[in-house]
Amino acid sequence: MSNVAVFGAGYVGLVTGACFAQLGHDVVVRDINEERISALQAGRVPIFEPGLEQVLEEHGERIRFTTDVGDAVESAEFVYVAVGTPPTHSGDADLSAVWTVVDELPQVGRRIVVVMKSTVPVGTGEKVRHRLDARGLTDVGYASNPEFTAEGTALRDFMTPDRIVVGAFREEDGDAVAALHDGIAAPIVRCDVASAEMVKLAANAALMTRISFINEIANVCEATGADVVRVAEGVGLDRRIGPSFLRAGIGYGGSCFPKDSLALKQLAANSGYHFQLLSAVIEVNELQKRRVLAKLERHLGSLRGRTVALLGLAFKANTDDMREAPSLVLAGRLQSEGATVRAWDPVARPRDLKDVEQLDTLEEALAGADAAVIVTEWSELADLDWAAVAQTMKTPVVIDGRNMLDPAEMRAAGYRYEAIGRAAPGNGPETT
Ligand code: UDX
Ligand code: UDX
Repeated sequence: MSNVAVFGAGYVGLVTGACFAQLGHDVVVRDINEERISALQAGRVPIFEPGLEQVLEEHGERIRFTTDVGDAVESAEFVYVAVGTPPTHSGDADLSAVWTVVDELPQVGRRIVVVMKSTVPVGTGEKVRHRLDARGLTDVGYASNPEFTAEGTALRDFMTPDRIVVGAFREEDGDAVAALHDGIAAPIVRCDVASAEMVKLAANAALMTRISFINEIANVCEATGADVVRVAEGVGLDRRIGPSFLRAGIGYGGSCFPKDSLALKQLAANSGYHFQLLSAVIEVNELQKRRVLAKLERHLGSLRGRTVALLGLAFKANTDDMREAPSLVLAGRLQSEGATVRAWDPVARPRDLKDVEQLDTLEEALAGADAAVIVTEWSELADLDWAAVAQTMKTPVVIDGRNMLDPAEMRAAGYRYEAIGRAAPGNGPETT
């Protein structure tokens, strides 16, 4: 078993640390945020990720938390980097937190391997290698071991992944990083550092492309009377295509897709290549978030003075993460049209959502509203007694941005119900 230090106690760092502890390694998680570390030391988990609290508790004897670099690295054989890499104004990834870690790394007098978990542009490993060499840390190894964990299912994704990708400059460093994952049954892809960095960006780009593709199919379904849910089912059963990431909706959000698409587009542009397909994927996604407005206007006319309830705020269900959530764009657009916006979410409580009343129950959010928009696919929405709440709304208009409800049932419950790409006869707005 090994000693692993993880830098960054965010969504990725905490899951990485917890899973390595579960695999039997001794883990120290280090973060610069003192409040976050104190909370973790006191047994409180600062983010919402299903199962994380239990794993941290269960393997508490093998995982501890610190703000001190020296303490974290003292007996470490691996230093995982899981700090944030947010987008800058130019679309490039902001690597300042990564450089801080590299520059803070003390001389330890024995071989350790720095492992990049954060998503970084291709070429970052090479630059880190030079910086380590320039600091005289020539016996510090470097490997890229990108994460493919989705929030909400991150622990399962880590422990039962489709694959583990390890890129290293030296074979033995790659071997050591691969061995850290003993106990996980998954194919290991061994490659050079640049290719490992690119696997992550390309995998995300492929998933985003599928989402924008099905969203465009949905938009054409609306115009032609087809039902995208049935279409996706029929398309996805083709084994060459597969069913995943074919859920049409209000566009992707989150901490990865929006930022990684910009970073890959920018990476290509910086090398003189215009990544046309990716540019279209990004544009389709931006427009998709706004299509809800036209749907609301079709039912309500002008939105001025109307009250619209946003059901779900987080960028997807089972997380409290608000980064690049479509709800933020929707709230802003609705307010700029003169609507009053209120919201419900079972876990996300964003502090910076201006002039939006956040209510504790679905019933409160819907009472007196002119319309509701399903923004996040929380299971509470599928379980709600929609027939009962219909009477409490001012006008029972529901725009289902996640295609999670049954159109016939909703209409039977008295709603003017519209989803995304489900305008087939009997399903669409023209029949209500
Ligand atoms: C991660 C990855 O690092 C990012 O590259 C990937 O694409 C998405 O997920 P995530 O764990 O979601 O980021 O970020 P966040 O929850 O913001 O956590 C980052 C943590 O790093 C924070 O707790 C922050 O305090 C910490 N940090 C930041 C440091 O410890 N040191 C720094 O210099 C900067
Ligand atoms: C993603 C990747 O899945 C993961 O491998 C990577 O490491 C980080 O980025 P995450 O952003 O947590 O994970 O969630 P994911 O489930 O992939 O969803 C991303 C966005 O796409 C969400 O906004 C989701 O609502 C949307 N989505 C997903 C769709 O609109 N349709 C789909 O069919 C699937």
